[in-house]
Amino acid sequence: MCGIVGYVGSRDSQDILVAGLARLEYRGYDSAGIAVIGEDGSLGMRKRAGKLARLREALETDPLRAGTTGIGHTRWATHGGPTDENAHPHLADDGRLAVIHNGIIENYADLKRELVADGVTFLSQTDTEIAAALIARAYRETGDLVAAFRAVVNRLEGAFTLLATHQDHPDLVVGARRNSPLVIGLGDGENFLGSDVAAFVEHTRRALAVGQDEIVAITPDAVEVTDFAGNPAEPQPFEVSWDASAADKGGWSSFMAKEVSEEPEAVANTVRGRIHDGRIRVPELDGLDDLFRDIDRVVILACGTAYYSGLVGKYAIEKWARIPVDVELAHEFRYRDPILSPSTLVVSISQSGETMDTLMAVKEAARLGAKTLSICNTQGATIPRESDAIVYTHAGPEVAVASTKAFVAQITALYLLALHVGDVRGTLADDVAIEAVAQLEALPDKIQWILDNEQERIEQLARWMADTRSVLFLGRHVGFPIALEGALKLKEISYIHAEGFAAGELKHGPIALIEPGQPVFVVVPSPRGSITMHQKVVSNIEEIRARGARVIAIAEQGDSAVLPSADEVLRIPLASPLFEPLLAVVPLHIFAMGLATAKGLDVDQPRNLAKSVTVE
Ligand code: F6R
Repeated sequence: MCGIVGYVGSRDSQDILVAGLARLEYRGYDSAGIAVIGEDGSLGMRKRAGKLARLREALETDPLRAGTTGIGHTRWATHGGPTDENAHPHLADDGRLAVIHNGIIENYADLKRELVADGVTFLSQTDTEIAAALIARAYRETGDLVAAFRAVVNRLEGAFTLLATHQDHPDLVVGARRNSPLVIGLGDGENFLGSDVAAFVEHTRRALAVGQDEIVAITPDAVEVTDFAGNPAEPQPFEVSWDASAADKGGWSSFMAKEVSEEPEAVANTVRGRIHDGRIRVPELDGLDDLFRDIDRVVILACGTAYYSGLVGKYAIEKWARIPVDVELAHEFRYRDPILSPSTLVVSISQSGETMDTLMAVKEAARLGAKTLSICNTQGATIPRESDAIVYTHAGPEVAVASTKAFVAQITALYLLALHVGDVRGTLADDVAIEAVAQLEALPDKIQWILDNEQERIEQLARWMADTRSVLFLGRHVGFPIALEGALKLKEISYIHAEGFAAGELKHGPIALIEPGQPVFVVVPSPRGSITMHQKVVSNIEEIRARGARVIAIAEQGDSAVLPSADEVLRIPLASPLFEPLLAVVPLHIFAMGLATAKGLDVDQPRNLAKSVTVE
């Protein structure tokens, strides 16, 4: 949450900062602002509540003086509402110092009392302005911005990435991070800072990941990183694996539309390079065979959509690797005194790799002695850096706030993990392993089939249902997490009440919600997997139809048993039962997007949300 960008070089920084913010806007869009040290040596600043377009207007009507050093911020409000005053940057030291911040400074009230007693007055309700005032006070003592950061950062509790620029040092941007992301982009005669690489990928793909509790100072020709005590630190270099065009909308109406269309590719790219001699072998996991043989439990930690992918992954790990799996919401895990041991493998799943709830849960798991493995889509992110092992999903940058292609990539990565570990443990029969590889390889074409053949019909259905006030989703076995995902996606971008239930749970309460006309999506398992389960779900359909529900079934091609019972049938290609979720979710993503579009809503930036939730 909140996007941060910093630039020092020889070009006018304004366009670079605003373009960086445009790429980071998915992290928060309540307000935006930039501060630039102008050619005359004075610090100029513009900031506006609302989306980046409002800042752009402000810069057009009231331009800032050109300058080659600056910082920019796009905000997801925490302390203080989304007003012009609360927008970042915040100024201090008589308007000569500008500070931006991502995170929450938890002890800000105590610090504010101290500063007020010292005679400092504040213009905003933010915690950031307190940090700015502290840095200004420390700076006045030494005239050294890095030393001022060093004096202040250890007094701040909570999570922060802070960037600052001071007009006394026209070629310098200083940053610090604790529990919030910060990466460095290396240019020629110019350097960048960003919450993630999207901030600067247009200019350079050479990057350095700033570690926990580190301070970085960039000038056009140098980058210096130290820990909070001032000892030199070695930031981890990496090459960004995608170029700026991957994070462009291209000709699509929205990032979400583009990302749904990339679901086949997300699966294919995640599988690529991980099949050897017809078996799954994830090279990143080489050397961990002893660990995989020794573990007696897997705990999956994640939030939101990533959590649902974990729920699907549980079925695969238990089936193929024969290890019991618990799947937990990361924010619940940390506060309930969990029981872990060195033979527990904790698998975290995160698209952004920055979700604070998940990060804190991973740290807690490590503290309790468990081995940690991260499934992540973002290079250089904090969660993989804090984990013992990493399996990257290769979905490419996901910009729309609602996760789609990352979800199918996460399930794919969990399946790769299950198959790899199953092989190591000897629990995977040859025919099962070979069949699984064939299924994985066939998935991209099958997803593409849905996009080519069913998308239009689903979008039409969504248009017809644009006035719907509530939608229910039912699924069983691996279809249950898909029902949960369908409901989350719909409420998130359409603002419609939606709930997902296990189909078997219906009769234990939720069936009371069914009244004439209530739309219910039902994920129907293949009769080829378990005829009993298929029959039971068809019976569930009959039960709700008898009470007037309007049933939209998602069923495999050729499943004629659902035809008489459902009002609509959305078809998916045939797949083995464990692979069906990767297909069944596609119509639900298309439906949520279609309905939100039919309501005229912004599918990429739904209200109140931000991608990458870096506060707890
Ligand atoms: C829903 C969605 C969120 C994220 C959740 C975890 O569409 O995008 O529920 O899945 O906030 O985010 P990551 O995967 O970045 O940890």
